Amino acid sequence: MKQEQLQNLVEQMTLEEKIDQLLQLAAAFYSDKAEEKTGPMSDLGLTQETINQAGTTLGVSGAKEAIRVQKEYMANNRLHIPTILMADIIHGFRTIFPIPLALGCTWDAAAVEKMAAVSAKEAAVSGLHVTFSPMVDLVRDPRWGRVMESTGEDPFLNSQLAQAMVLGYQGTDLKNDLSRVAACVKHFAAYGAALSGRDYNSVDLSEQQLREQYLPGYRAALEAGAKLVMTSFNSLNGVPATGNKWLFRDILRKEFGFDGVVISDWGAIQELIAHGVAKDKKQAAQLAIEAGVDIEMMTTCYTDYLAELIQEGTVDEQLLDEAVLRILTLKNDLGLFENPHRGANVEEEARVIFSEEHQQAAKDLATKAIVLLKNEAILPLKSEENVALIGPAAASQDILGAWSWQGQKTEAISLAEGAKNLSSSLLLGKEPFDYFAPSEAAIKEALALAEKADKVILALGETSEMSGEAASRSDIRLPEAQIQLFQALQQVNKEIIVTVYNGRPLDLSDFNQAKAIVEAWFPGSQGGHALAEILWGNSNPSGRLSMSFPETVGQVPIYYNVENTGRPYESAPDEKYVSKYLDTSNYAKYPFGFGLTYSQVDYTELVINQSLTSATPLTASVKVKNTSSLPVVETVQFYIRDLVAERVRPIKELKAFEKVSLAPGEEKTVSCELNEADLRYVHIDNQWRSDTGDFQLMVGPNSRDLLTTTFQLIE
Ligand code: GLC
Repeated sequence: MKQEQLQNLVEQMTLEEKIDQLLQLAAAFYSDKAEEKTGPMSDLGLTQETINQAGTTLGVSGAKEAIRVQKEYMANNRLHIPTILMADIIHGFRTIFPIPLALGCTWDAAAVEKMAAVSAKEAAVSGLHVTFSPMVDLVRDPRWGRVMESTGEDPFLNSQLAQAMVLGYQGTDLKNDLSRVAACVKHFAAYGAALSGRDYNSVDLSEQQLREQYLPGYRAALEAGAKLVMTSFNSLNGVPATGNKWLFRDILRKEFGFDGVVISDWGAIQELIAHGVAKDKKQAAQLAIEAGVDIEMMTTCYTDYLAELIQEGTVDEQLLDEAVLRILTLKNDLGLFENPHRGANVEEEARVIFSEEHQQAAKDLATKAIVLLKNEAILPLKSEENVALIGPAAASQDILGAWSWQGQKTEAISLAEGAKNLSSSLLLGKEPFDYFAPSEAAIKEALALAEKADKVILALGETSEMSGEAASRSDIRLPEAQIQLFQALQQVNKEIIVTVYNGRPLDLSDFNQAKAIVEAWFPGSQGGHALAEILWGNSNPSGRLSMSFPETVGQVPIYYNVENTGRPYESAPDEKYVSKYLDTSNYAKYPFGFGLTYSQVDYTELVINQSLTSATPLTASVKVKNTSSLPVVETVQFYIRDLVAERVRPIKELKAFEKVSLAPGEEKTVSCELNEADLRYVHIDNQWRSDTGDFQLMVGPNSRDLLTTTFQLIE
């Protein structure tokens, strides 16, 4: 349809029809199963007419069901307007990839784009049109359960990966490429800064921090063409995001130039009452429509009160018309007027879903996402070694993680499954092993196996319910029973390799005596194959942390790009009156960007070609040499520090990275180009600018072990 035809369609719609376009209802409202249509998920006191006219729906899946729902919906719609089928496809549809926090550890935009493209292909053939992804909330507090959904603590890495996801989901011709879905970037804004790491809690940020750290990821996703933005549940500096005109009209629409659809998070418009900024649903509707929220997900403030607000003159009908036009434009961008079923295809679905090719992609990502945190020459294992594989996660298929909707745990490859073809002498327990309260028999069997073995793989972890939405934890250690198991095993065998499935950085200090620690996150459908191949050396680990691991939860929030303070500990470590703790270090146990390999890569000869001006970029280069006998993929990281600025600057900021493959003994020169724009920061007047002056440039394998040199930005 042409834009004027859409405008004409809006003019044909009654006030009721326009208001109902702003409502999003869950799949249960359109189910043909009686028990689903009468459950709590389908009872909002709506008339059947409103249900028939609700503009979009979420959670429908399966090509056959999607075709049925769309057909019935359009038949019931006076103007035959199609609905949009949306859902949460966060790290895979049926083929589940590692959780996004693990995807962040790949530092591989091309691989992350592939993840999104496979996810889109499976979702599209199953009839979906929009995914509520990428989630680009920057995170610094592992107590928050939704850190698993983010790609981490750094705005530059988050931006790179957000753009990759949008491109993977949408492709370059969304209307005609029926293997793609529209992307919805979320949660706008700064949901990851929830106070105390408690989900849905308030966010209090300076505008500079908001602009410098939290907004760039969303903006990058929008610059990549994301079609929708979802509001966040939190209040931001005292104003709930979902009713925040400054955030949505001034920042998102005016400053970022976004003219697409804004959708509320589930119930977030009505939650303006609980926040205490709306006395009732009517005022909630007014605040949200004035803020520019187009779609109300699963509450009825708009359907119940927008007509009254318009008729009494409180709300200008133009605001409603603009929202309806944006929703119809999205439907048009998806080609739904000409092809309401888009890619839904029952035969194709059977062929595409969970295909061998997709499994291979999932395994590739999982392998790249695994981070080797510690290795005292115990890994990689040899196939002939006598290895006991024990612990609650040894045979666990709870490895898909939160937000894995259509994923089937029964299809997930456990570590025991993945290991069986790699070891000729694997000792496996038979007793079921509980994550929280293992039986005496299970523990006894584990100890007996450990006693007989040369080495022990102790497979531990969180369950997938321990992270994700509404899953904040005040204690970020593993369950006590797993710590006790480790201590008991220590008595019979010191050669212990700990593997961990988890949805957040953990306090792993209880395992300091382990000879190796392997961070596997929730690695997805192929997790067991990927983890086993890392353990037995078929793959050389290459993952680098996208989020810092604290020594203890008492350090949180902890992140790498901190400020120096006026009394930096480093300047006088023996002094009393410097910024430090009495009872722990200032530093992460495992810092941002950290990850070991089975190789040794030496960094030498960091050189800069010249000073930097606004007209002439600077090129920095470093030599990296693989001195081991194993091929390796090294992630070379470039950081800067602005030594004197109008506002305090972080002691380091990631500005570039490059993954390089190095054969045994091979040396390469890795370069990065820095432009004046890379040095800009948000000044006191909230404008992005650079300052001339002295800078440090640092390069290394992580944010801690760095070669440093200096350069100047001159006029
Ligand atoms: C949830 C989440 C959001 C998700 C939405 C729809 O509450 O906050 O990320 O997309 O509801 O499921």
